[in-house]
Amino acid sequence: MNVLGIESSCDETGVALVRADGGGVPRLRAHALHSQVQMHEAYGGVVPELASRDHIRRVLPLTRDVLAQAGCTLDEVDVVAFTRGPGLAGALLVGAGVACALAAALDRPTLGVHHLEGHLLSPFLSADPPEFPFVALLVSGGHTQLMRVAGVGHYELLGETIDDAAGEAFDKSAKLLGLGYPGGPALARLAEQGRGDAFALPRPLLHSGNLDFSFAGLKTAVLTQHRKLGPAPGAQALADLAASTQAAIVEVLVKKSLNALKTTGLKRLVVSGGVGANADLRRQLNAVAAGRGLRVHYPELQLCTDNGAMIALAAAMRLTAGVAVASKHYGFDVRPRWPLDELT
Ligand code: KG4
Ligand code: ZN
Repeated sequence: MNVLGIESSCDETGVALVRADGGGVPRLRAHALHSQVQMHEAYGGVVPELASRDHIRRVLPLTRDVLAQAGCTLDEVDVVAFTRGPGLAGALLVGAGVACALAAALDRPTLGVHHLEGHLLSPFLSADPPEFPFVALLVSGGHTQLMRVAGVGHYELLGETIDDAAGEAFDKSAKLLGLGYPGGPALARLAEQGRGDAFALPRPLLHSGNLDFSFAGLKTAVLTQHRKLGPAPGAQALADLAASTQAAIVEVLVKKSLNALKTTGLKRLVVSGGVGANADLRRQLNAVAAGRGLRVHYPELQLCTDNGAMIALAAAMRLTAGVAVASKHYGFDVRPRWPLDELT
């Protein structure tokens, strides 16, 4: 079964082709991505209307590119999958509309996929795929959640952020430090030059006794420290503040993940979403895992942030596991807000 996947929930247009045979993990045949980062940079964040219009421009050329890379014709596509939510309504409608029109023209079924399920399953395309059950730490620009994952489609929410997401904390702090958009990777780069213990920043809810997160207070603390540095802070002070910010976010993510493993009695952690690309987070998680007999799985770096491969993969895994049925009902809708545990 060849599954074409289309992702258009935010500022990346992603298309991919995945092949699923029998019960094995689906194989990625080809994928292509266009990032709108440069277009939104001038505005300091994603402009939804511009995002939608750009998805329209990119999605068909990317689809042609993917099919050419895979040496596959449209006729060989068995299912067309798309991101149904959560995300920007207009952006989602582009992917859903194109997917359903394409499927109708080909007389093939479609399947709408949950964006976060795509992230969550994305490590199955890595060289070191996980096994069920596991704890998932989902850390993206819009979400920070710990889930107990028993199998495809069986997701139990253990804890989540009560305000900002981890990616948002990276992005907002980076903006305060004048690092532009999206700030996560830029802040992480600058942090490599600094000391993580240079500034005492809060670790909200670290000892709350539950698995929830809160990052909104961190940006205020970063702002206060930044102001104290005066109008022209030195390069080293800025790097130290970046490193201290990253250290605060990473420490909370690591400790809460360990608590989730302890609570569930599970030994495997799967990290996914854009912040999962963070090298410091990976270093710290690997270090604590090594001493405790735990395994940590990550997506390939290029599949941490939004992409079409995870959407095609999630569709293929849902269909193979029998928890979803692709349909030739081409009247589509999107779910800009869509809690992941509704899938269970
Ligand atoms: O999963 P994703 O591509 O989009 C959402 O579904 O939200 O995640 C994007 C987020 C952004 O907040 C970005 O700053 C963050 O992931 N990010 C990083 C890194 N790479 C991406 N944060 C910290 N370190 C990184 N290396
Ligand atoms: Zn995402």
